[in-house]
This record gives sequence, structure tokens and C-alpha cells, in this order.
Amino acid sequence: MLKGIKRVITLGICSVLLFSVTGCKTVGGGKRIVRIAHSQSETHPDHMGLLAFEEYVESHSDKYDVQIYPNELLGASVKAIELVQTGAVDFAVCSTGNLETFDDIYQVFSIPYLFDSTDVYHSVMEDDELMDSIYKSTEAAGFETVTWLDAGVRNFYATTPITTPEDLKGKKIRVQQSPTNVKMMKAFGASATPMSFGEVYTAIQQHVIDGAENNEFALTNNKHGEVAKYYSYNQHQMVPDMLIGNYKFLNNLDPEDKKLFEEAAKECNKIEREEWDKQVVEAKEIAKDMGVQFIDVDVNAFKEKVLPLHEQILEENPKLKPIYDKIQEANNKAKGGQQ
Ligand code: GCU
Repeated sequence: MLKGIKRVITLGICSVLLFSVTGCKTVGGGKRIVRIAHSQSETHPDHMGLLAFEEYVESHSDKYDVQIYPNELLGASVKAIELVQTGAVDFAVCSTGNLETFDDIYQVFSIPYLFDSTDVYHSVMEDDELMDSIYKSTEAAGFETVTWLDAGVRNFYATTPITTPEDLKGKKIRVQQSPTNVKMMKAFGASATPMSFGEVYTAIQQHVIDGAENNEFALTNNKHGEVAKYYSYNQHQMVPDMLIGNYKFLNNLDPEDKKLFEEAAKECNKIEREEWDKQVVEAKEIAKDMGVQFIDVDVNAFKEKVLPLHEQILEENPKLKPIYDKIQEANNKAKGGQQ
């Protein structure tokens, strides 16, 4: 009942917000309002990065008023992406997991154990040529990516310890609304339950699911550590968050403003990543204080279960192959092997 009332209130707030959002695009003084939606709290590194974006735009131009809507205020990720597609919202931060159904180029990041290390992951994400080929290729989807944000390494956490892949058997594990993540979870032997991020806490609390998979911030910033006390370092994915913008908005900017938003995006990336590195260490300590146990596992045992997916996904979506090959080159280079 309470949940029902809460949902009605939230829907009401969203409708009011959406109404004002989709309406007027200028404020007094004729400034163009630039709206950004995201799903994290105001203390999360993503939000810090976006504040830097806002600060950069507003201090370098008097034409724009940047407004940030955190906490899924304009809707969960999938909704936010739809709003960017239509131009009701100009930018949103969302995981590549959720972007996958809007443009399947983003499926590549859902491939489990794609990057051998965070160093390789970062080097690939910093490869502007490779990333531009992804970022700029999504005109048909109505958006373009302007920068990436670190979202760490994804691991399982649950109400019971997961120390081997066998512990996942029959467990209901939440995944993002991504078909590749559903496949991955099946390959791990668990039962995949796709849902939006904001629903996970209650779903664990009410035993609708046994656990989920995410970075450490889910335990603290989203308080999942209150209801799931075991976090296992099986490291199955490094899935970035993307700052996406409405395609028409970005491509109708004059050269000077295009540059302005490009520079603001760089600033956003820089600050978010600095905040990430700083806060993720703290997050682990906070989670321990919440009573969460961190478990080191045999990563290879988990990897073996899902490696066959690499070939399967590439066969189903051959356009991923050139990107996948580049990533493998980066993995090999890091190992000191052939490029
Ligand atoms: C991370 C990520 C979010 C994403 C969430 C999820 O927190 O930063 O963008 O929505 O995972 O699992 O849905």
C-alpha cells in the first residue's frame, strides 16, 4: 500500500517535472535551458562531474542555463534515454548496459571479462579514435555520446556468500535492462531478473531477488549494503557510464558552442574520474562499517563459465568485431604480447 502511494507521488512529481521539462526551453534573459538527467545521488562522482560540466558551460558562455536532475527524478535510465532521443532532455548519464537496446554498438561493453585489467579498460576508453567511432555512430538512435565516466568494476553481491559459480545456481540476480546481461547471467547459472536501478534495494529487501551485481557505490550510495551483506570480487565487467546528448542539439550548435560543450564534457570526465578514485576507497570502508563482507574469489572459475559468450555475441552482432579486436590488441599489448 505504502509502496503504491509512494509510486503515485513519484509519478505525480515526475509528470509535473516532465511537463515543465518538455515545455519551455528558455529562462528569463533568453538563456537556453540545458537539462541533464541521471540516476545517482548528489554525492556520487557522476554528479560531481556534471557540476563541473555545468560550471564550465556557464562560466564560458552566458547563453546557457544548465540544470541537473539527479536521483532518477526524470525517470530511470531507460526513460532518461528516451527523453534524450526526443530532445525533451538534452543530456543523460546512463550505463552502456542500458544503451544497448537503443543502439547495439554498446553491446560490446556488456561482454563479460572483455578487459583484462582496469589499466587496459582505461587505455581503451582514452583511445579517442576508437571511442569516436562508437560515440558518433548513433545518429539513428537520436543521440551521441560526448564522454565516458568511470563506473568501476562490476561484481556480485547477495544476501548469502557467493564464493564459487556454483553458489549462483538458482539464485535470482538483478541485471540491467540489457539482453546481453541476461545471457551472461544464464551462462553463470543464475536466473536473471532485469529491472531498473532504483528498484533493486526494495527487491532485495523483500526477497524478490537474492542479489545483484555492481560496483561498490551500490552498497553505500544506493544503500544496498543494508540488505545484501556479501560482496564477491569476481570482476565480471567494466561497464562505463556515458554522458549522451540529443543528436540534433549537438549537431545544430555553431562551431564555438560545439567546442564549449566538448570542453565541458572533458572537464566532466576529468572531475568524475578523480572523484571516483577518491570515493571508491572510502566506499569500501563505509560498506565494511555497514557490515558488508568483501570476498576474494577464484576469478578464473567465474570466467570459464562465460567465455563462450564472446564468440556467440560476435557472431550475432558482427559489427562489434573491429572494436572487440582492438580491445584484444590492448589486452595483448598489456601482457607484453603481440599487438
Ligand atoms: C551503476 C551505473 C549506473 C547504472 C547502474 C545499474 O551504478 O553507474 O549508470 O544505472 O549501475 O546497474 O543500473
